[in-house]
Amino acid sequence: MTSAKRRVYLDYSATTPVAPEVVQAITPFLSETYGNPASLHSYGRDAAAALDEAHQVVGCAIGARASEIVFTGCGTESDNLALRGAAFAARQQGRGSHIISTPTEHHAVEATLHQLQDLFGFEVTLLPVDGCGRVDPDDVRRAIRPDTILVSVMMANNEVGTLAPVAEIGRICHERGVVFHTDAVQCPAYLTIDVEEMNVDLLALSSHKFYGPKGIGVLYIRDGTPYISMQTGGGHERGRRAGTVNVPGAVGTAAAIKYVAAQREAQAPRLRHLRDRLIDGILASVPDARVSGHPQDRLPHHASFVFKSVDGETLLMALDVEGIAVSTGSACTSGDPEPSPVLLAMGVPREWALGGLRVSLGYHTTEEEIDYVIERLPRCVEQVRRATSDL
Ligand SMILES: Cc1ncc(COP(=O)(O)O)c(C=O)c1O
Repeated sequence: MTSAKRRVYLDYSATTPVAPEVVQAITPFLSETYGNPASLHSYGRDAAAALDEAHQVVGCAIGARASEIVFTGCGTESDNLALRGAAFAARQQGRGSHIISTPTEHHAVEATLHQLQDLFGFEVTLLPVDGCGRVDPDDVRRAIRPDTILVSVMMANNEVGTLAPVAEIGRICHERGVVFHTDAVQCPAYLTIDVEEMNVDLLALSSHKFYGPKGIGVLYIRDGTPYISMQTGGGHERGRRAGTVNVPGAVGTAAAIKYVAAQREAQAPRLRHLRDRLIDGILASVPDARVSGHPQDRLPHHASFVFKSVDGETLLMALDVEGIAVSTGSACTSGDPEPSPVLLAMGVPREWALGGLRVSLGYHTTEEEIDYVIERLPRCVEQVRRATSDL
């Protein structure tokens, strides 16, 4: 009898398994309570009640009102609606067209800002980041002009794990009357989110990053924030995102946000410990290896490295042969042989930036799995380096 191949999943920043309590919460809404929440009859009213409850739970979990929560199709959609919605509302009100962001944002923000600039005449200023990928709030203060309408800085970087000083940036924005958006997609499973403390007006989440289902995201819109819905149609979600709402997804998101709120306090220090064990183990055994991103001020489950003279994709495949699933950076950029723009923006030399690797731990990660990676990864790096130098 052949034994099943060992598999270790360490790509929780790409996606997470759906928690059993979330599956249980969703199931009745697939085939029993299946009404359209916009319908007036009892089937519709039952679904609408569940949707109301989901708004309530998600709002409460992030310090917001239920009325400020909009369910979307994913994190990418939340970012798109937030940025376009705020930009076009500002244009309609004649308040200006200048937007401030950073070069290390997720594609969902970066590509949207590019399009706003290239096709719609908005002006985008990208502020520099330091070697850890952090923007200086004073740079934000200096960059704000009378025609600045929007600032977008992500709460935690998906590729290098660095946390941004969002509360301070938000305070600066509010002092100057500028709308502040943050992409918090990577955060809910590990960090508390409080939209009041963070001084944010628009915030994006994605359920599949915190043990909820795929195909559902959340957009928080602070009451009073100028916003035009860029998805037009019916008046769903109080006119802020047209389209029949994914009720099972919304119910699942509420269950997932409750689940992570209950787990976070115990999981965050446990994961931080395992992450540090991994980082120490790798740095001690792999020559020419560095941690990318901030050494401490980073997501507790997130370890990212750069290896000199190693192709990250080849290393990923070598690890896959060992049953270890990791990522070269953002899951959305896998398959792209160019060095990561995030690492380049942080000043990482090209020879190192090609060898970026993200190892993201999750609630099911064990110490034994981490030790397996510490044992196998150095050999894989050596093998890839040898293969490259033989070419
Ligand atoms: C920081 C960040 N923003 C946005 C997204 C996009 O989320 P979704 O996969 O739900 O579209 C991701 C996914 O990797 C992410 O890490």
